[in-house]
Amino acid sequence: MGDSHLPHGRVVSQSASLRAASIEQQIVALLDRMSLREKIGQMAQVNAAGGHVPDHLRDAIREGRVGSVLNEVDVDTVNELQRIAVEESRLGIPLLIGRDVIHGFATVFPIPLGQAATWQPAMVTEGARIAAQEAAAHGVNWTFAPMIDIARDPRWGRVAESFGEDPYLTGVLGAAMVRGFQGNDLAETGSIAACAKHFAGYGASESGRDYNTTNIPENELRNVYLRPFKAAVDAGVATLMTSFSDLDGVPATANTFLLRQVLREEWRANSMVVSDWESIRQLAVHGFTENDRESAYQAATAGVDMEMASTTYADHLESLVKDKRVTEQQINTMVSNILRVKFRLGLFDNAHTDPSRFTAVADPSHLRAAYDAAVASAVLLKNDDWALPLHADELSSVAVIGPLADDPYEQLGTWIFDGDAAHSRTVLQSVRDLVGDRATVEYARGVQTTRSTGTEGFDSAVELAARSDVVICVLGEEAILSGEAHCRADITLPGAQDALLEAIAATGTKVVLVIMAGRPLALEHTVKHAHAVLYAWHPGSMGGKAIADLLFGVVSPSGKLPVTFPRVTGQIPIYYAHKHTGKPATFESFTHIEDIEPRAHQVSVGNTSFHLDAGFTPLYAFGFGLSYSHVEYEHLLSSSAVMTMNGRITFGVDVVNAGPRPVDETVQLYVRDLVGDVTRPVKELKAFTRVHLERGERRHVEFTITPRDLAFYGRAQRLIVEPGRFHVWIGGHSNAELRTEFELVDDHAR
Ligand code: GLC
Repeated sequence: MGDSHLPHGRVVSQSASLRAASIEQQIVALLDRMSLREKIGQMAQVNAAGGHVPDHLRDAIREGRVGSVLNEVDVDTVNELQRIAVEESRLGIPLLIGRDVIHGFATVFPIPLGQAATWQPAMVTEGARIAAQEAAAHGVNWTFAPMIDIARDPRWGRVAESFGEDPYLTGVLGAAMVRGFQGNDLAETGSIAACAKHFAGYGASESGRDYNTTNIPENELRNVYLRPFKAAVDAGVATLMTSFSDLDGVPATANTFLLRQVLREEWRANSMVVSDWESIRQLAVHGFTENDRESAYQAATAGVDMEMASTTYADHLESLVKDKRVTEQQINTMVSNILRVKFRLGLFDNAHTDPSRFTAVADPSHLRAAYDAAVASAVLLKNDDWALPLHADELSSVAVIGPLADDPYEQLGTWIFDGDAAHSRTVLQSVRDLVGDRATVEYARGVQTTRSTGTEGFDSAVELAARSDVVICVLGEEAILSGEAHCRADITLPGAQDALLEAIAATGTKVVLVIMAGRPLALEHTVKHAHAVLYAWHPGSMGGKAIADLLFGVVSPSGKLPVTFPRVTGQIPIYYAHKHTGKPATFESFTHIEDIEPRAHQVSVGNTSFHLDAGFTPLYAFGFGLSYSHVEYEHLLSSSAVMTMNGRITFGVDVVNAGPRPVDETVQLYVRDLVGDVTRPVKELKAFTRVHLERGERRHVEFTITPRDLAFYGRAQRLIVEPGRFHVWIGGHSNAELRTEFELVDDHAR
């Protein structure tokens, strides 16, 4: 099971390489015809006016001063923009039309963090393919996704857009999303250019506060934050977007280490790089440059090909070339990267969009795919005494309570500029559809919004709960509480929701808690008031039907966490692939704050790495998720105890469905490198696969690991594979018990 982050060329077909060569020749020929101003014009991305073409934009396109427009999704307006560019400008260069198509267009899929909980690359690819179809029908040919920032601080609102904390899982799913958007050929109808963002290290924003400083040692940057971007580049991502953030004192938008040394020299990538929204102009705000002119100079020198929204390139690049501070060759290279995307998209052959060539927006097949994704993304975190699945024929009254139980918009989540709530199915609607003919289904909102602190709605909710057989309580975060710039310093349930849940639980009625949120929440004091907890993230258009079908056993939960859930906010950052430290905590080596004797001696409570008031373990571990059955792992065996530098080892395990229902299980393999040139994580995900098991079924599952899978960046910042001892775990989560080990030997040394 190869690690896709190692330097290995992508195999391309002969015809594809011939087409690529032809495109390069066409780029050179076109560049030769372009004036310096026309070249600089290609480097400008301008925000649209929404549904019409104002004169200033018409003139700018006609004069060759615009290379791309973002945020226009009226197809007639897009076609007019393209017509002006192709027919009225001197060289007829078509436009890139960009849009944030993050987890769906009109049909909304679960937020990317939810899609990550499916651990199904093919499902992520399918969702992106559908989103691309719906967007392309509106003239969009470029999306600003996948967002593949590693997110290990859930206070950060943008964790919602990420695939979570793990470089390997994020790399696999990010590449899958690229393939979904770009298809086999960017020129095919329905393919759109993808954009790996935000390059790089944005998820490390201090204190989880968006746009904040990041300080990431190069070794950590390479071993963690850059790996998914390498996977996206290996998958052929057409573009990358620089991050707003300051990386070790040099903002990513002017960071030559990232944009030249890593992206161009080490990875040999020829993808186009776009800034983030005004991130070039913000270089002066960072205090990295004196003014716009210097910002343009720094960004161009670092290699940002296109400027989003701000105009420092349009205002200053020509004079910087005349002053010989930027060469025309540099401009040619950047414009070539832009033209390459346009040629690959086939825009020079046809820049017109004919909507009739596309499946209708929110076509039933699209909604079905969104439903499947919502089902697979939900993670069952708790299920005491088999509280779930609910049996409709045993129920006469069902209470549905909570501010998110019947809100078609809020369940869509963040970044749904084009999401249409009219297509949403809510939990309340779906429960009524499913069991309304056999049980009374009543609703109480409980609290006005997820942030409301008023308790005026409690009485009716508690009264309803008291006279019902079961309560389905849908709590969490409104969409606005996650996503860009929406960070929270306390990630417990907002508002009075915990108090509402506690009041409902006090009635003694069985409580099934469903949480919709854009991040992992700190739920230690919440989950004890529920018999079962289903985490649905923001599940998208079909979230309500997916949740109802899961709760009543029409389908079974199979999601696994792509992020660690802290007990309390103060544990953050807490993630599974942490370092061992010199004094690791164990259950024997620490004393909880409540158990400390009065006047305890200073060294009596354990001198190891833990919090007195929270311990050292999360509430729920990375990779964790329950099912409606019971899966056991047996007989972990390896084909050898020794791996040579050009060898491999196959690890096999028996996965057994020992429970009452069929199950879909994500089998995970983790490795620990016990001694390294730099300290290594206590375990790292290296492979996973999904198996379906009928009741009682036993399946033998195998993974093959090679030295490439064990490579990491050492002190010299080069990718190395070192001989030594390794532990291997296989199981259904990152605390898997079954373990074996092997030794990697350097047979060349013998
Ligand atoms: C935003 C985001 C970026 C997005 C871009 C265009 O500020 O940081 O992810 O793609 O601007 O909307």
